[in-house]
Amino acid sequence: MTTDIYWFSGTGNSLWLARSLGEILGESELISIAAGVWRGRPAPARAIVVYPAYATRLPKIVQGFLSEAPLEQATDLHLVANFALWRAGSLEVGRRLLLRRGLRVRGGFGIRMPNNYTPLGEAAAPAKQQRLFEQAGKRLQEVASVIRDPARQAWESNVLIGRFWAMLCPLMNALDQGEDRKFNSDERCNGCGLCARICPVENIIIRDKLPVWQGHCEMCFRCLQYCPQESIQFQRSTIGRKRYHHPEVPPEAWTA
Ligand SMILES: Cc1cc2nc3c(=O)[nH]c(=O)nc-3n(C[C@H](O)[C@H](O)[C@H](O)COP(=O)(O)O)c2cc1C
Ligand code: SF4
Ligand code: SF4
Repeated sequence: MTTDIYWFSGTGNSLWLARSLGEILGESELISIAAGVWRGRPAPARAIVVYPAYATRLPKIVQGFLSEAPLEQATDLHLVANFALWRAGSLEVGRRLLLRRGLRVRGGFGIRMPNNYTPLGEAAAPAKQQRLFEQAGKRLQEVASVIRDPARQAWESNVLIGRFWAMLCPLMNALDQGEDRKFNSDERCNGCGLCARICPVENIIIRDKLPVWQGHCEMCFRCLQYCPQESIQFQRSTIGRKRYHHPEVPPEAWTA
């Protein structure tokens, strides 16, 4: 059975999960949510959406996708949220956005991956990252076995707690507005422009050889994590902290 795997990723974890799941399932096509090619392209019967948990919910761009994408023919829908510590409403908010359109999900899975939210902690040591990747790989085998078997259902989220976060979601979205004012580049910036080139939503322009954030940020932290000079900070909370991106997703993955 053909499967469309839609993904959004800031620092490569979700992309790696989407690729790995595609390899396990076979006959899959990976479709970037940020690239927008899904518009006007009806999904096949089986569709999977892979994304990170952000601040108790999911990225706004993925919320938009779940609200608008032509998923009507996808009678076998699955959500795969990945998170560093706590999935919170990342699955339930997504499920409810689909339900509003009369679309039902059969599977909802949470997978733990390394943290990329540097304000709360720097990159884990490589050995710990490796352990998480191995565990995630095993989890993906379980996820794939549920997806392959139409008789099975899985919902790895507490519906009541999820409902609470779903209620708060519009407020949390509103609080995000203008958060990118907190990004800044320090004296190490050499004006290379990589941050602008790799931003998934073109939210950075380079002016006078310095990045300027434009106010429509997804808060994916890609610019901060991939800056070769480690020059980008989020207020002062990230100074001196080790950066993170998935080791199999180099900067070229975002500019190809
Ligand atoms: C703005 C932001 C908010 C986040 N919020 C949460 C959260 O609420 N719970 C959690 O466990 N992880 C949270 N994380 C961590 C990511 O969900 C996690 O590291 C994920 O694997 C990153 O995936 P990506 O590399 O595909 O972007 C957050 C990360 C960012 C950048
Ligand atoms: S990637 Fe880093 S060094 Fe390059 S322009 Fe952006 S902030 Fe400056
Ligand atoms: S400005 Fe940075 S954090 Fe915001 S969407 Fe672009 S890459 Fe992600």
